Amino acid sequence: MRKAEIRRLEVDEYRAAYDVARVSQHNPPVSTSEWDLARHVYEPGLAVGAIVDGAVVGTVNLLPSQLTVPGGASLPMAASTGSGVHTDYTRQGLFNRLKQAQFDTAAEHGYLLIGNTPAQATLYGRFGHGVSTQSRALRIRKHEARLRSEVPAEGTVRLIDPESSLELLPKLYEQLGPYRPGVIARSAHWWKVYWERAMRAGQHFRIAVHSGAAGDDGFAVYAAKDNGSPGPNVTLLVTDFHAAGPAATAGLWRHLLSIDLVDEVCVRTRPTDELVEAMLVDWRGCRTHSIDDELWLRLLDVPAVLAARTYCDAKPVVLEVVDAFRPANSGRFRISPEGAVPTSETAQLTVDVDVLAMAYLGTTKFSTLAGIGRVQVAEPAALAHADRLFATDVASFCGTPV
Ligand SMILES: CC(C)(COP(=O)(O)OP(=O)(O)OC[C@H]1O[C@@H](n2cnc3c(N)ncnc32)[C@H](O)[C@@H]1OP(=O)(O)O)[C@@H](O)C(=O)NCCC(=O)NCCS
Repeated sequence: MRKAEIRRLEVDEYRAAYDVARVSQHNPPVSTSEWDLARHVYEPGLAVGAIVDGAVVGTVNLLPSQLTVPGGASLPMAASTGSGVHTDYTRQGLFNRLKQAQFDTAAEHGYLLIGNTPAQATLYGRFGHGVSTQSRALRIRKHEARLRSEVPAEGTVRLIDPESSLELLPKLYEQLGPYRPGVIARSAHWWKVYWERAMRAGQHFRIAVHSGAAGDDGFAVYAAKDNGSPGPNVTLLVTDFHAAGPAATAGLWRHLLSIDLVDEVCVRTRPTDELVEAMLVDWRGCRTHSIDDELWLRLLDVPAVLAARTYCDAKPVVLEVVDAFRPANSGRFRISPEGAVPTSETAQLTVDVDVLAMAYLGTTKFSTLAGIGRVQVAEPAALAHADRLFATDVASFCGTPV
């Protein structure tokens, strides 16, 4: 078998690469009309392919974005998307080589991190990706879901038609800004590929927009799904829900729970610290369906990424980071409320780069990770200090699939 060449893809190879990724995930090749929107997932110089005899047999791609980190800074992040290897070329090390090339490509373009929401949870740890945000999927039985009288009832909700959403939602999402660590920027291309394409695929989405005193401040996208129960009642499946503050959040919940002929409202991704149960007269009207891994991060430039976030008040900690896949990215850092700087002091705690990704946005504590053997602990007292340094005021949340 001929050895594959790994190289950046040319524009006229993008569609073939897209089909490799689609077919590897059991989807048919893209149709011409769908490709018209899907092609926007490719930006010059960011897609890499494995080529054999002129044909693409494996591929990875990057979509530009930005990540909000604790303290509010936005870091250049590329979303990893469109990954796959043709079944007749798997287990020959192609993906390994594609990931090396993807990381080099991202670093050359100035991205400090790569983010993804992978289809396979067992694949990415070896490349240094770690779960950086978690989200909650929840299910509310509508007839048990009366809101308590104290829940804010400010502002109004209006439904907008899908065509208007193409202009309004991107502006509104941008306006919401970096309202939580983990929130990522959605480029014009993201909206085309992930929203316009779904919208044009024929499903009847409804889009609710909340407006407060200062204008539009949140939105929820949902669709009705026949749940097989007798009568005309449906399940409402909420696929995209973002709101900057409590009034907009409450207003959108009030709207979703007031819709007639609905048995239950299911929401795919909400922040883990949102207590919908406490908004209801009957706490048990809302059930957690699952707590899921959401955004996985791959820290490509550990010194820059550590320096970019703020830290809470606690004693300094010396942390060693080991990156087996990109050894030059390894290093030792003194982390304190003043920031993170490289140091030659003795390490108190040592972690692999994927483990740092789990702690970076405050989602998982160092003490929890140490308890499951993921932190090498030279000085036990440092664990509590590291927990406090990396803590965040609100739970990190992404809410954007990539
Ligand atoms: C997953 C996939 C990309 C792997 O490609 P590949 O070229 O066979 O991978 P490689 O041969 O380079 O293997 C890379 C490493 O990952 C491991 N690996 C490969 N597939 C894996 C899987 N499905 N689950 C867990 N580990 C896997 C290999 O054992 C190897 O480990 P090692 O470096 O420690 O030896 C390919 O099988 C595929 O396209 N699958 C379907 C689509 C898919 O899952 N895409 C990813 C979407 S997020």
